[in-house]
Amino acid sequence: MKIAIGADHGGFEQKHRLVPWLGGLGHEVRDFGCDSTESCDYPDFAEPVARAVAQGKADYGILVCGTGIGMAISANKVAGVRAANVTSPQFARLAREHNNANLLTLSGRFVSLEDNQAIISDFLKTDFAGGRHQRRVDKIMALESTD
Ligand code: RB5
Repeated sequence: MKIAIGADHGGFEQKHRLVPWLGGLGHEVRDFGCDSTESCDYPDFAEPVARAVAQGKADYGILVCGTGIGMAISANKVAGVRAANVTSPQFARLAREHNNANLLTLSGRFVSLEDNQAIISDFLKTDFAGGRHQRRVDKIMALESTD
């Protein structure tokens, strides 16, 4: 799969480990930064990852910050993105099955690397369930065209 990934300083260290791990699993990974633990602003990295997903240049996006919350709020401002801030494998599966999430946001400070790897694995292997969930996702996406 094509995966766009990004982080702020709170997520840099985990991203630094996740990029080669994802590559080793056979994914094509595009890293949008940041490139150190120097303080930076998470929307600057959420935007290019979210746009890569929205434009179909990546199948999925992964964003890591201290909590994952700021990344989710930022990414969800980009039309076409359904970002989910996830802290357990069960929620990763549900974000795909029920919400057709196309972007995963993770906590680099409160969730271990190993737990985030389990979250990513379940997120990437789980299909959208469709059916009644399609109707609900359609209603989410319709919100983009209302004031
Ligand atoms: C940075 O200190 C922190 O606010 C950021 O990484 C993230 O947790 C925001 O949601």
